[in-house]
Amino acid sequence: MDDTDNFIQAGVTILKTLAAAYSHPENYKVLSWNDELYHRVTKPEPLPFDGQNMDETVAEAIQTIFSGYCNVSHPQYYGYISPRPLPVSVLGDLLAMGLNQTPGAWRAGPAATAIETETLHWLSEFIGYHTPSGNLPNGIVTNGGTMANASALKLARDTLLGREVQSKGVRSANKPTIYMSREGHFSVWKSLDFLGLGRESLRLIEIDEQGCIDLNALEDTIQRDLRQGYQPICLIGVAGTSATGAVDALDTLADVAAHHNMWFHVDGAAGGAYANLAETRQFFTGIERADSVTLDPCKWFFVSFGIGCLLVKNGEELRKSFYATGHYWEETDELDIFQMSFSGTRQWRTLGLWLAFRHLGEQGYKRILSHNLKVTHDLAATVIATDVLELLHKPVLPVCCFRVGQIKSPDTVTMAIQRFLVASNHYVTLLDWRGHHYLRAAISNFATESSHVYELVQTILTYLDTNYDT
Ligand SMILES: Cc1ncc(COP(=O)(O)O)c(C=O)c1O
Repeated sequence: MDDTDNFIQAGVTILKTLAAAYSHPENYKVLSWNDELYHRVTKPEPLPFDGQNMDETVAEAIQTIFSGYCNVSHPQYYGYISPRPLPVSVLGDLLAMGLNQTPGAWRAGPAATAIETETLHWLSEFIGYHTPSGNLPNGIVTNGGTMANASALKLARDTLLGREVQSKGVRSANKPTIYMSREGHFSVWKSLDFLGLGRESLRLIEIDEQGCIDLNALEDTIQRDLRQGYQPICLIGVAGTSATGAVDALDTLADVAAHHNMWFHVDGAAGGAYANLAETRQFFTGIERADSVTLDPCKWFFVSFGIGCLLVKNGEELRKSFYATGHYWEETDELDIFQMSFSGTRQWRTLGLWLAFRHLGEQGYKRILSHNLKVTHDLAATVIATDVLELLHKPVLPVCCFRVGQIKSPDTVTMAIQRFLVASNHYVTLLDWRGHHYLRAAISNFATESSHVYELVQTILTYLDTNYDT
């Protein structure tokens, strides 16, 4: 066989493997691993000296992956908003990687640059954010929500502290402060450290009963900081907390940010997609007033890991903040996206998402989002209908948190249930909420049906009946 035949044969093996993983996810447990695999973390196998043929190599990779497989395609996977990817998006990823195009600069990938810009435009329209103004894209694609949040904080820093900060660095005299609810994502602390603003510049504001930022506590903290000579530069509204899916009062936060002349950033990494849906849109009112919005399409846009984005009102802001060049780079009038973000050459991660938008259309996406929300509401209703389980909050987004209530040592029992569920093939995570354990189920697989969540609750009830006096 020549190289082309080998490539096609190995490629067909890969596609058949993916097709089987999607059509028969029940062939694998929700989580599998073995000790031998774990051993390789600290004792990697030796560097191969001689090569082997493509077929054998691909077969070996497939065998290894399924020996340590987190089965996000399984309908009973309720883990960390890690979706079963849409098959069409997977094909897009393959095509983009296979042809090795980059959207970093027009001359390095004209089609990649055009499709990426179009995808950013669609994302923005999908969530009801600004339509692009000017000649530059209305945002950037990043490798995830963390880098999108870091980029937003850099925009806030550079805009509010003055452009000088870009050349001279942050001076201790600046005393900038940033505000976010204590349910906001840890990527923000990491970013503040990374940007030289320091983790202590972050004010983590108390939350209300629903897990949203407490507006009185926010105002009190800002006033105290102003009295002490700090400069509030950024307010972050969380549109879907990672833990419970709570959405802050964005419209009010936009008022607060405007009043105190702060950059208003919305971290919609987890929940942003739900700004589109009629059932949930009201929670996102005010997102259109944000200076920047983070989205993570590898969550409820159902594409594979490794794609986040930051949307802005005007791409010029990004260029002012990130512009850099080298003497080997001929400056022309063409679009060079690498001058708008921290990344240089990077993977083209938007083709899969672009194909998904084309293939499903906005309507198709709405159907999936709505389906996942309905399954979540069915889970919440089933929990409420039991005598022994209690909800943390009524779900706003497809995240449902609950625990065993009327029992001795509810935290110990809830933890035991979670261990039992994972062992019995229901991947539910454990949430620590104000010192108490809750079961957390995120519905991020569009193949999860209400029947699956009924079975989840039934499994818990049977376990409790068998092991405890309830
Ligand atoms: C609200 C929120 N912000 C930011 C992030 C960070 O995104 P990533 O893990 O893609 O870097 C997450 C991740 O789960 C998140 O839920």
